[in-house]
Amino acid sequence: MRLTLRIWRQRGPEQPGAMTAYEIEGISPEMSFLEMLDTLNERLILRGEEPVAFDHDCREGICGACGMVINGQAHGPERTTTCQLHMRHFHDGDTIDVEPWRAAAFPVVKDLVVDRSAFDRIIGSGGFISAPTGSAPDAHATPVPKPVADTAFEHAECIGCGACVAACPNGSAMLFTSAKVTHLNVLPQGQPERESRVLDMVGTMDEEGFGGCTNTGECAVACPKGIPLQSISNMNREFLRASLKNGGHGAR
Ligand code: FES
Repeated sequence: MRLTLRIWRQRGPEQPGAMTAYEIEGISPEMSFLEMLDTLNERLILRGEEPVAFDHDCREGICGACGMVINGQAHGPERTTTCQLHMRHFHDGDTIDVEPWRAAAFPVVKDLVVDRSAFDRIIGSGGFISAPTGSAPDAHATPVPKPVADTAFEHAECIGCGACVAACPNGSAMLFTSAKVTHLNVLPQGQPERESRVLDMVGTMDEEGFGGCTNTGECAVACPKGIPLQSISNMNREFLRASLKNGGHGAR
C-alpha cells in the first residue's frame, strides 16, 4: 500500500505544533497501525530526521498506553485500541490524519504523546479497598452474587486509554471515572469506602479540568472495551447517594 500520512508534530509541550505530511509505500495490509508507524520511523531515522513520538507498551490491547486520533476518530475506524487496528481497514492511496488525544486535561508532551497522569490521580484519590492483604482468603469466604461479579468485571475491563475523553466534545472523563467507581462500589469488598470513593474520585476528576457530561454518548461508542454509557448514570446515583449521606455536600 502507498499512503499519505498527515501527522501532528510538536517538539514539546510549549512548542507550536502542525500537521506534517509524509509519503510512505510498501505498507502491508497485515501490519498493525503501530507497525506502520514503526516503518515510517525507521525510514525517518535513516534519513536523519526525528522519528514520530507515540505511546505504546503491550501492543495487545490490554495496557491502554496507545491512543491517537486517526481520521478524526479515537483509535481510528474500528472499535479497538490503536495497537490492534490493522492496515487492512485502509485503502491503497489513502490519506490518513493522525493526531494526539485532544483534551485540556491531556496536554501534549511530544507529537502524539499526551500526559494522561490525571487518570492516575483520579484512581489514586479513591481506588483502593480496605480488604485484608494477608494470606489469600478461602474461596467464597465473601460470597459475591454472579450478576454483581459480572458487573464488576465488565467495568474492570477499562484500560484507561483515554479514548472516552478524546471522543467527548466536552473532554469529559465521566465514563472512565464511572468505570473505576462502579468496578469497586458494587462488590462487597468495596463497601467500606463506597461513599468516600465516589466523592473523592469525582472531586479529583473536576479538579483535573475534565469537562462535564452532556449525554452525547461518544465516549461509550469510542471505548475499545465496551464500557456501557449506563455506567455514568450509575456513578451519578452513587454520587447523589453519597452526597446525601454526607449531609448534602458533594465533592470534598
Ligand atoms: S499498547 Fe497496550 S493497549 Fe495498545
